[in-house]
Amino acid sequence: MSDLPAPRLRLEELTKRFGTHRAVDAVSLDLEAGEFFCLLGPSGCGKSTLLRMIAGFETPTTGRILLGEQDLTALPPHRRPVNMMFQSYALFPHMSVAGNIGYGLNGRGRAAVAERVSDLLKLMRLDGFGSRRPDTLSGGQRQRVALARALAREPKLLLLDEPLGALDRGLREETQGELRAVQRRLGTAFVVVTHDPEEAMMLADRIGVMEAGRLIQVGPPADLYRRPATRFVAGLLGDVNLIPGRLGPVSPDAIRTVETAHGPVRGVAAAALEEGAAVVVAVRPEDVVLGAEGLPVVVTDAVFLGDRLRRTLRLPDGATLRSSGRPAEAGAAPGSDARAGFPADVAVILPA
Ligand SMILES: Nc1ncnc2c1ncn2[C@@H]1O[C@H](COP(=O)(O)OP(=O)(O)OP(=O)(O)O)[C@@H](O)[C@H]1O
Ligand SMILES: [Mg+2]
Repeated sequence: MSDLPAPRLRLEELTKRFGTHRAVDAVSLDLEAGEFFCLLGPSGCGKSTLLRMIAGFETPTTGRILLGEQDLTALPPHRRPVNMMFQSYALFPHMSVAGNIGYGLNGRGRAAVAERVSDLLKLMRLDGFGSRRPDTLSGGQRQRVALARALAREPKLLLLDEPLGALDRGLREETQGELRAVQRRLGTAFVVVTHDPEEAMMLADRIGVMEAGRLIQVGPPADLYRRPATRFVAGLLGDVNLIPGRLGPVSPDAIRTVETAHGPVRGVAAAALEEGAAVVVAVRPEDVVLGAEGLPVVVTDAVFLGDRLRRTLRLPDGATLRSSGRPAEAGAAPGSDARAGFPADVAVILPA
């Protein structure tokens, strides 16, 4: 392993236009050394294009890419201390596993290559597989060979575009754990693209959410889940109730009142929103409490899901809320009237 301290990667206002379409739109980001970063967003939002610019396969229309003091923006891919594993990673079918992993290491002595390949086989729990052909391996094993190949040249930064996309669910969860463990052991910074929010939350130190070319929010998974900046982020990271209303006056703390069709509710105002603005109050189902206070609802449905009980609640105007609680907290059977409340500090007020 290289013993130089890995410098920080900085993206400055990176933009990529294809014709008039801004595939990536003024993205700025600092990546810490050794960080596991996930880029999350829907299809076509610019994730692969952003990765390709960092790797050098795509030239930014404007903006800069810096690694420590070094400006990478104009360097060709092979001169960057960065490696990329593509969305459809392809192993060379006619080469052995060892040949695939050692492919990028030509120029080094045979013994050095053999040693490096053997280390990587061990790291990826592929001891004994070196002489096999890729088509004799399972999907998960092939995935690990591709990862070993991407790691062979000891990049300071590894970019992985949907590395687990081809795996089925069980294998995918197992490989997520391995990816995380390998990254921890090596201390190489990883940027992993995914469009699976659960995968991003499980893997990442920080998540960056992209929408239509823009990086709209960056933070640790729990921050994005609890304090989403927009409705889009709120809905992307999990089930959420959105209650529309008008924002009340500014208060000394961050807690403000929202007048809804069914009465006032309170929440944390996320942005500098003006009094009277059309807003939604975002509340996670697990924060909805049925009790003596809150909005008047009728329980229309209760589904037992083993570890939780999910209820559907109807507001007077016909809109629904969902709650999710411990099955032991019984009461409020379908058909009964109830009040649905939530603590003000877990409700987030967002622009409508
Ligand atoms: N070479 C190109 N020429 C023209 N348009 C392109 C080119 N590459 C990408 N695009 C467009 O840029 C946008 C972003 O593409 P990109 O591949 O970065 O999306 P993505 O977020 O990786 O999507 P997915 O999750 O489907 O892989 C898309 O609208 C795409 O059609
Ligand atoms: Mg892509």
